Amino acid sequence: MKPQNPPRTYRVKSFGCQMNVYDGERMGELLAEKGITPAPQGEEADLVVLNTCHIREKAAEKVYSDIGRLSKAGEERGHKPIIAVAGCVAQAEGEEIMARAPAVSMVVGPQAYHRLPEMLDRAVKGERATDTDMPAIAKFDSLPKRRRRSPSAFLTVQEGCDKFCTYCVVPYTRGAEISRPFKHLIDEAHRLVETGAREITLLGQNVNAWSGEDDAGRAVGLAGLIRALDRVDGLERIRYTTSHPNDMEDDLIAAHGEIAKLMPYLHLPVQSGNDRVLKAMNRAHTAESYLRLLERFREARPDIALSGDFIVGFPGETEAEFEDTLALIDTVGYAQAFSFKYSPRPGTPAASMAGQIAREVMDDRLQRLQARLNRDQAAFNAASVGRTCDVLVERKGKHEGQWLGKSPWLQSVWFAEEDGREAQIGDMVTCELVEAGPNSLRGALRQPAVA
Ligand code: SAH
Ligand code: SF4
Ligand code: F3S
Repeated sequence: MKPQNPPRTYRVKSFGCQMNVYDGERMGELLAEKGITPAPQGEEADLVVLNTCHIREKAAEKVYSDIGRLSKAGEERGHKPIIAVAGCVAQAEGEEIMARAPAVSMVVGPQAYHRLPEMLDRAVKGERATDTDMPAIAKFDSLPKRRRRSPSAFLTVQEGCDKFCTYCVVPYTRGAEISRPFKHLIDEAHRLVETGAREITLLGQNVNAWSGEDDAGRAVGLAGLIRALDRVDGLERIRYTTSHPNDMEDDLIAAHGEIAKLMPYLHLPVQSGNDRVLKAMNRAHTAESYLRLLERFREARPDIALSGDFIVGFPGETEAEFEDTLALIDTVGYAQAFSFKYSPRPGTPAASMAGQIAREVMDDRLQRLQARLNRDQAAFNAASVGRTCDVLVERKGKHEGQWLGKSPWLQSVWFAEEDGREAQIGDMVTCELVEAGPNSLRGALRQPAVA
């Protein structure tokens, strides 16, 4: 590669899960430390970081088309951007990317991106560099201080996965489960609140597998961390995602009934409602044990909104087994959910299992499953009408004086300002929920913004 001018502007494009969003923000902070600024909206950046996701085939293929588009646009402009590929595709297919995409200068894995600035120095000299090491904690230790300015912030507390569900690439792309130390997390939470956060969502591939030692040296789990965050002044809402049924501790369930700042929302993926399929997926829980767990959350916090993830068309899934998943959905009544067609991923055990399901069958199952999930989401939203709740204002709506925020149950709520009652981003306002749509609710302002 030819030497290039040091970049002045950057853009990070994150795909996939919220942990990638968090990593993308941290990469931006690293670049900002080098004096590189975010490219203004609508302008091309000198440095583009594609922060990729490998979870399903479509997501992984996107990176190559993005690289092609970026270098073509750069050629036409006579000024090609420096391209870095980060995230889970970088980890899984780093060498292949380097071989297939000569326009890429840097490949950096999700546990190595703290080295991005050094790699950039090399790229400017015309060298190509790959780093897919996995020293997870080292990364967090060498990141700069947070610069967030948003009312709702992510905080990665746990990384990696040891579960090895047979369909999933995450244990290979993110490495083994590790927990960040308690003190670092409390410090980062304070810093986020100082820069404007009123809500923090704790993130991890298995966030409830987090463990550590509190200030007094006592061993604590996620609930202990949440109890400590409860004492952070200025922090008003705590959420966490994604938890795994097998890592659920009693104290976390109890915390939902005891800590007002802990929002009434639980994302607990189940993937299938059939025990044979669950076993083949290596989920190590049954449909029944999962349902019992949800019951306990509902006892602790009766209004809790439940959410889950589903995969249809896992190898060997029969029509009757699929119907068990539909039955589980009917039993739970999810407030929200994510559902996917099974996608065979290279290197995972399920990809070579017998009984791969035809595309049309998967399409049909996904459609039927989503019809039920949509029905339940609409019902949950409709049942919220008449409730009065806090809404954390996150952004402006389409029209002047319109604002969008989140209810405690993670529903999108929009409301309009009224005479003399003006709102701004970061306000916690009180709304009565007056009208429900499938994906959002309309609120009527009941109390002006308290800054
Ligand atoms: N750690 C979390 C989420 C992991 S990825 C958990 O275990 O719950 C997010 C979701 O993507 C999974 O819950 C699963 O529903 C889906 N997923 C993962 N691998 C997949 C694959 N190969 N095909 C289709 N969906 C998949
Ligand atoms: Fe993937 Fe399973 Fe780990 Fe979730 S628990 S990240 S689905 S292997
Ligand atoms: Fe995708 Fe990696 Fe997250 S594969 S879902 S970006 S952990």
